[in-house]
Amino acid sequence: MSLDDLYRHAWAALAPDGFTELDDVAPPRGPDRIFELIDALGLAPGADVLDLACGPGEQALVLAERYAARVIAIDPVVPQLVMARGSATAADRCVCVAAGSMEAIPLASESFTLVWLRDALLHSSDPEATLHGCFRVLRPGGHLLLHTAYATDLLAAHELELLETEMHVQRAALDAKRVDRAVTAAGFEPVHDEALGSELAEHYEQQDGLGSRALLRLARLNRSPGARARLGEERVRAARGLYHWVVFELLGKLSYRTRVLRRPAT
Ligand SMILES: C[S@@+](CC[C@H](N)C(=O)[O-])C[C@H]1O[C@@H](n2cnc3c(N)ncnc32)[C@H](O)[C@@H]1O
Repeated sequence: MSLDDLYRHAWAALAPDGFTELDDVAPPRGPDRIFELIDALGLAPGADVLDLACGPGEQALVLAERYAARVIAIDPVVPQLVMARGSATAADRCVCVAAGSMEAIPLASESFTLVWLRDALLHSSDPEATLHGCFRVLRPGGHLLLHTAYATDLLAAHELELLETEMHVQRAALDAKRVDRAVTAAGFEPVHDEALGSELAEHYEQQDGLGSRALLRLARLNRSPGARARLGEERVRAARGLYHWVVFELLGKLSYRTRVLRRPAT
């Protein structure tokens, strides 16, 4: 491209009325999309559902309410368990919260109709054991919802290292080919496979400016030498990791994919 062409196009692209067709690309799908995939399974009321790596437990409540399910929610991280227990008690739903990790699921074999593993495989140090465990705890004919992000070729080595150091991300779990092999080796058969890419991050950006906020706060952290001391080293590290994760999603360095997998009926 010539220098003339660069400056003919570049500033116009940044103007509010430039490149507006990009604003009209199909609206990004939001978090409801994942529930729609589960709706299609037609779970019977009272189904046993495992929310694996439940975090603060918001989805465990939705699963209990939307499908009249009996939900067991597990997570190894104490602050997450405290929040999940608090919200389950306050909502008075059929949700039981317990400590446990996804690499060694502390639950009986063949006891669930659905395992919900949303946005957490990234922390698994052993994706093979995690997927094998999901298969083990499912009843024959049961389903696994696997919604997770993978590294793309755009993610540079030092960016992956940053995610590992600041966000406890495990590189094995971001490796799409490795996870594919683990899914197959565990014995799952595919039911549905949808590439969401950056759509969730776009959705949250459009909804409340999450991506711009992450980017702006990274910039402010960089030029505020006192921030680490004022906010606390641990808090700043966690924030940097998360802000980068969101920005990497928007830049296509991380790409989300949602799969519904089935343990064969026989
Ligand atoms: C990004 S949050 C997602 C939480 C929830 N599934 C959601 O979609 O909102 C990732 C969760 O994985 C949990 N986690 C981290 N390491 C884990 C492990 N080894 N086994 C199970 N959960 C783990 C964290 O505590 C955190 O709650």
